[in-house]
Amino acid sequence: MYRSHNCGELRINDLNKEVKLSGWVQKVRDKGFIMWVDLRDRYGVTQLIFDQERTPSNVIDLAKTLGREFVINITGSVIERNSKNDLMSTGDIEVLVSELKILNSSITPPFTIEDESDGGEELRMKYRYLDIRREPVKNNLILRHKITQQVRKYLSDNSFIEVETPYLIKSTPEGARDFVVPSRMNPGEFYALPQSPQTFKQLLMVAGMDKYFQIVKCFRDEDLRADRQPEFTQIDCEMAFVSQEDILNTFEDLVKHLFQKVKNIQLDKFPVMTYDDAVQKYGTDKPDLRYDMKFVELNDIAKNREFNVFNNSELVVGFLIEGGNSFTRKDIDKYTDWVKRPQIGAGGLAYLRIQEDGTYKSSVDKFYDQSDLENWANKARAKQGDILFILSGDKDKVRTQLGALRVHVADNLGLKNPEEFKPLWVVDFPLLEWDEETGAFHAMHHPFTSPKPEQIDLIDSDPAAVRADAYDLVLNGNEIGGGSIRIHDKKIQQRMFDCLGFTKEEAEKQFGFLMNAFEYGAPPHGGIAFGLDRLVAIMGGNEIIRDFIAFPKNNSGRDVMIDSPSTVSDEQLKEINLKTTL
Ligand code: AMO
Repeated sequence: MYRSHNCGELRINDLNKEVKLSGWVQKVRDKGFIMWVDLRDRYGVTQLIFDQERTPSNVIDLAKTLGREFVINITGSVIERNSKNDLMSTGDIEVLVSELKILNSSITPPFTIEDESDGGEELRMKYRYLDIRREPVKNNLILRHKITQQVRKYLSDNSFIEVETPYLIKSTPEGARDFVVPSRMNPGEFYALPQSPQTFKQLLMVAGMDKYFQIVKCFRDEDLRADRQPEFTQIDCEMAFVSQEDILNTFEDLVKHLFQKVKNIQLDKFPVMTYDDAVQKYGTDKPDLRYDMKFVELNDIAKNREFNVFNNSELVVGFLIEGGNSFTRKDIDKYTDWVKRPQIGAGGLAYLRIQEDGTYKSSVDKFYDQSDLENWANKARAKQGDILFILSGDKDKVRTQLGALRVHVADNLGLKNPEEFKPLWVVDFPLLEWDEETGAFHAMHHPFTSPKPEQIDLIDSDPAAVRADAYDLVLNGNEIGGGSIRIHDKKIQQRMFDCLGFTKEEAEKQFGFLMNAFEYGAPPHGGIAFGLDRLVAIMGGNEIIRDFIAFPKNNSGRDVMIDSPSTVSDEQLKEINLKTTL
């Protein structure tokens, strides 16, 4: 009744066919005696033509009333275009309209429904259903669909079972705050929305499901950024009777499968890097390997002169920027200001230019002669025309600062090609991390992560030194997945809770169900969860996950379209026992 074809379908070999199309009016061009309308649906755009000589006059009169985004249905015949459009899949033809029905009118949309819209982000979020009519947003959702289809296919083909776990649960410790939901039937008590299905997937291993997965919403009340949403989706997986190597192999193959099927890209074997190496070489546990700029430590050759800033620093470290001698004084001042901002917090930025004539020039050359500087350049394998950026200070801080500078320089130099994909595994994470604020150790991944078996006894004597069987998958500088081998022994789990400062009662109250389950034959197990939104965004050549979520929240955690969160009535508050009187 509405259509014989869609708007992306007709080609030159459909000439003279009588067709019915339905869709939205993208554009009207009215030349008086002749009128063209671009008709759009999810599949594409087809040009319609209304022509005084060939189209009934009542149809032309009605066509004159059309506006942008009207929903129409037409009947017509496919004819060859006079001026063809190579950029459109339907660009060889147009449809000469004989009948026109207006199915619905539209008020003028608040922004143009074009690839490059004139609408700002907030406005487009408010009218997200119009934003999704735009090609780039629609394509992002289609990409997401293709990826989830392939995830399901790959995992099902490899004997994983998709199991749904509940959303109304109690707190899971993934490190963020919980969203809590009051229980009407249990006054004064609350559910928490899952930060992940972590404990449930482990219980499914105890239950003998062997291989589990779920494409699942997770909820975390944390500060938002381009790569974080308060509700986001994980590809959550768990396997029994596996080693870390089995897990890395299985999920490396999953990621390769996705790139192959969805993007027709063949990824090579993923490199594996230890956490310590990543931090030492790139100043981060999620290095972007699309560009080099590896760190060069200069302690032994820079701390032997009169320069006390370096002498008093735990670490002097830099990285090489090929061709960077072309930076002007002003460029370097900008980078210096950038590292001195409170967000980075460096004291200053030193540099070493390897000039075109082979001589060296440095911001600290008062203290070092040419042969000192030559040593630095040699250590960094610098050539004429390069520059070395150097920071110094406390080793952990300075690595983080230099890591941030490395990413910033890569941004400025356009080294982040969105069509290049450089995955790697980062392994051997520390089990625990010291939290200055609370003055206590926290689980770096989560408290169910297994320490390396040979290091278990260090938990009491030197907790910071213990490494975990924990791993992240990093893609183009983004953490897109993380997981671990789990503790499956009640006694070790108990020791872990002790180490994290849980009293026996607290551990029992919060995780008694899991500890009990471990008494009924828990198999060795481990798993991983991927951030689907991040994976899709990066595969789509972007790092802003909002663009790949149909109805995302803004940076204040608001859905500006439905205007949520919002207040609720006193009656509702009373019902859920959050108000005693009306
Ligand atoms: P983790 O906390 O590392 O591990 O989360 C797994 C992956 O989820 C993604 N992610 C997010 N994506 C968007 N918005 C957020 N707020 C957000 N937070 C996390 C990241 C991350 O790598 N239960 C464990 C997994 C396991 O051990 O198997 C877990 O949730 O890409």
